[in-house]
Amino acid sequence: MINTTIKTTKSQEIFAAAQNLMPGGVSSPVRAFKSVGGQPIVFDRVKGAHIWDVDGNKYIDYVGTWGPAICGHANPEVITALHEALEKGTSFGAPCVLENILAEMVIDAVPSIEMVRFVNSGTEACMAVLRLMRAYTNREKIIKFEGCYHGHADMFLVKAGSGVATLGLPDSPGVPKSATKGTLTAPFNDLEAVKALFQQNPGEIAGVILEPVVGNAGFIAPDAGFLEGLREITQENGALLVFDEVMTGFRIAYGGAQAKFGITPDLTTLGKVIGGGLPVGAYGGRREIMSMIAPAGPVYQAGTLSGNPLAMTAGIKTLELLQKPGTYDYLERITQKLVNGMLTIAKEAGHSVCGGSISAMFGLFFTSGPVHNYEDAKKSDTAKFGRFYRAMLERGIYLAPSQFEAGFTSLAHTEEDIDQTLAVVKEVLSNL
Ligand SMILES: Cc1ncc(COP(=O)(O)O)c(C=O)c1O
Repeated sequence: MINTTIKTTKSQEIFAAAQNLMPGGVSSPVRAFKSVGGQPIVFDRVKGAHIWDVDGNKYIDYVGTWGPAICGHANPEVITALHEALEKGTSFGAPCVLENILAEMVIDAVPSIEMVRFVNSGTEACMAVLRLMRAYTNREKIIKFEGCYHGHADMFLVKAGSGVATLGLPDSPGVPKSATKGTLTAPFNDLEAVKALFQQNPGEIAGVILEPVVGNAGFIAPDAGFLEGLREITQENGALLVFDEVMTGFRIAYGGAQAKFGITPDLTTLGKVIGGGLPVGAYGGRREIMSMIAPAGPVYQAGTLSGNPLAMTAGIKTLELLQKPGTYDYLERITQKLVNGMLTIAKEAGHSVCGGSISAMFGLFFTSGPVHNYEDAKKSDTAKFGRFYRAMLERGIYLAPSQFEAGFTSLAHTEEDIDQTLAVVKEVLSNL
């Protein structure tokens, strides 16, 4: 039973059947609710800021299909554009003008990107960018940060965030030592650790990759000077700086975290929002570096469905909607209202919490904090988070089912949705 107050019979039946069909009953691990206990609800449909499950229960959604739904689920303008595109076919496997349009929009928006390559997921974008980092610098080692997640490719499954952190898994079996031998790690927000790695590996580090605002170990903002420091250290050492903006791109600001903080990396990965809910990833950067990608250059990377017309259409329409005046002010305002409200309520009820938000991305940890890195995040009372999570779910609020995932708001969330959510938070935290 996931709860006692709402009926979830159909969800339970479907999930029970799924367990025999798919590992853990899911297509991606965090969906299985392992870290919060109970069973997941099975979705029937989504619209705006809401989800309906197969038993007919309605929830306010703060997951937004893990980020893409920044304009709200099933936005009517995105759906209409998709209907029109569908009539022309689902995949060309050949050049199409929609790729040019989305590429231009991405290049105009994201400071570091002069050329872009579209792929089908964030994982693919990060895999490809790593190959490019190594090819361009002719060096093999990279630095990533503990708790940051860059998809599930072998080279990144070292002290990774997201589902790996949620499930408390060790670095995954099946990943050959040779694949991760060049992956060095440092705590987030620790410039001294990064400097030490460069000193210990002179001339060997291709670059540093990070989530400029971490979402996959819970929400962790960069300390003042951290991103600037990384820019300097990488430049001094002839290494590349790569922002993985799969989550933060077009969410932290229209031009991503790099626009928000005024730090221009050499390369950037994107996903989620730029596909408007369809499978898309992308990587881009300086023309000189991107020109190494096949067929312009020798670094091979390809994809049957890459740049497909449906995904490009959903991305173009989503970015058009985000360009309307006031969108990011609105997202900032409602998200701050949500998080400040949660923090105040929690503290009044005597809970140790900390948290924050930037634009449409937020987080709340059950620890007094401050949380600067994954070690700090792990001090959270995850058992309490689990109880909080289930009580919120029973009362119609759908949060990410893990202490180590950020939350997302959208343009479809109204002030009333936030007020309703805070009323539920108050009820739940007073009795937790
Ligand atoms: C920062 C970051 N990079 C990469 C990925 C992997 O993207 P995908 O799940 O589309 O493969 C994610 C997914 O959550 C992410 O948040």
